[in-house]
Amino acid sequence: MSDQSHSEPAILAGNLHGIDLSKLPKNLDMSVETITENVIAMHGNCPDERTKFIFTKLITHLHDFVRETDLTTEEWMSAIHFLTATGKKCTDLRQEFILLSDTLGVSSLVDSINNAKPPGATEASVLGPFFTDDALHVENGQSIASEGKGNYLWVEGKVLDTKGNAIPNVTIDTWETDGDGLYDNQYAQRGGPECRGRLQSAEDGSYAFRAVVPVFYSIPSDGPVGGLLKSLHRHVFRPAHLHMMLQAEGFEKLTTALYLNGDPWITSDAVFGVKSSLIVDMTEETDAEVARARGFKDTQKSHKVLKQDFVLATPEEAVTARKALLARVVAK
Ligand SMILES: [Fe+2]
Repeated sequence: MSDQSHSEPAILAGNLHGIDLSKLPKNLDMSVETITENVIAMHGNCPDERTKFIFTKLITHLHDFVRETDLTTEEWMSAIHFLTATGKKCTDLRQEFILLSDTLGVSSLVDSINNAKPPGATEASVLGPFFTDDALHVENGQSIASEGKGNYLWVEGKVLDTKGNAIPNVTIDTWETDGDGLYDNQYAQRGGPECRGRLQSAEDGSYAFRAVVPVFYSIPSDGPVGGLLKSLHRHVFRPAHLHMMLQAEGFEKLTTALYLNGDPWITSDAVFGVKSSLIVDMTEETDAEVARARGFKDTQKSHKVLKQDFVLATPEEAVTARKALLARVVAK
């Protein structure tokens, strides 16, 4: 007589709502060693190979995380409470989960993998949460900022392909903080687009616009993610930057940002967006005639100048770059 306290499980066969029952796991007594394999086997029927692969990896890493950290029940419950609070903080205007992804470096990592660039092309950077689709069209040489929004800045450059040819008619979206470190959509009363604009590169690929010098700012820190950063003794600042998004027929869309050299937070960006190739120096222009020619209202004030060319990749070049990147990362 068997000393087993349970009966052998019946062998299931057939199909239940698309689930091949013969593929269900056969193990009992989930243990620290066997539970991962069983959970993975439970989605063995998933017809989508990519989904199956992603969830297999997710379960594997999650379980390894719990084992490697010797996670306590209290810590696990605290994580559940944190994620619940993060969800509750989300509204149409506030996305706390993206903030969590940003501050854990996941957004930047996804961005770097998905926007690998060939040598010579401008690198991408995180989109961030402050882009809006309602920027007004600005003619080359005109302003994206109203008078009084900050210190004067003149931005100019060219858009080129990787062979150095000019690209005309590139749609360039740009947005930035005002001199107080706030985007227009962070004000309770938003009159309309401010410190943002959309322009087109000229026939020779050139672009230029007036703006204000962006300043470093704090990411929203009054929610669960802010609390998490506080408990980790992490700061909440992003270095000063100017967002740029460039789109042209026949080229990969480029979402990037220019970071001002010398900013105190340049090497510890709260959302890990800085790349050294995107750090720029500004010069100072004191000639009143130049200020007048560029359209600044107060020509007695000096203004900063930021010169930057952008190099766009073709879709074929981007695919090759991404394959090379993944081969390098996976080979490690
Ligand atoms: Fe930003």
